[in-house]
Amino acid sequence: MKHAVLINGRRIGYEHNEADTGLPLVLLHGFCEDSTLWDPVAGELRDIQVVRIDLPGFGASDPPLSPGMETYSDAVCAVLNELSIDRCVLIGHSMGGYTALAFAEKYAERLAGFGLFHSHPYQDTEEAKENRRRGIAMLQSGKRDLYVTQLFPGLFASEFAVSQPDVVEQLIEQGKRQSAEGIIAALEGMIDRKDHQHTLGSAACPVLFLLGSEDPIATPARGLAASMLTNTADVHVLQGVGHMAMFEAPEKTVDIVRQFWDFCTRQ
Ligand code: MLT
Repeated sequence: MKHAVLINGRRIGYEHNEADTGLPLVLLHGFCEDSTLWDPVAGELRDIQVVRIDLPGFGASDPPLSPGMETYSDAVCAVLNELSIDRCVLIGHSMGGYTALAFAEKYAERLAGFGLFHSHPYQDTEEAKENRRRGIAMLQSGKRDLYVTQLFPGLFASEFAVSQPDVVEQLIEQGKRQSAEGIIAALEGMIDRKDHQHTLGSAACPVLFLLGSEDPIATPARGLAASMLTNTADVHVLQGVGHMAMFEAPEKTVDIVRQFWDFCTRQ
């Protein structure tokens, strides 16, 4: 069941499984997705207290008043406050990882650990910014459905995309449910996001890096280089996996997330 909290008059939707096991695990989705992204693994984590948040502009959450990963991280904080959660393990998929880094910079004391799930701390290249600007123009001209239809197939390892077209289609349908306003705000926020190598360097808590050998966005090279910046890193490179391990390798995802959560619990 979805709950909601208001921040600056804007609604933030979240799901809370209400398990009462120790340290809460907070999961953030990526771009053009919502909290249902974690459905393939949520059932296997049901003994842990799991909170899944719709970032502003996605799922049941209103678009942000101002775009940016900092705005998203304040929305995460608002949900934690609502649930009286002082400390948690926060794992973000891709854009959710960019949000986790913004959260780690501002609210470090709330984290027992955080995870970059197919994500990295680096800013956009000029080429990536230009691609996002083209996307914004497309969305502004009313082509939201075409935009998300083109987005998702390239996020999976090609063998998976060919053998499981229904999964790719499911993500496209989920993307079509997101508002153009929310997607545009996310693109603007990612264009302007800052480099967070210093946040990894100063993190006092363990950091999880889950990488896919076939990921075109958070490439293993970038993820492995980023992991060297941290004090305590838990690094996994999944062979043959693209950008979507919760679909491409759900069992390994559950094991890795559970082990990391367990490790953070014992710190
Ligand atoms: C995501 O999955 O959140 C996006 O691929 C992130 C990005 O475009 O940098």
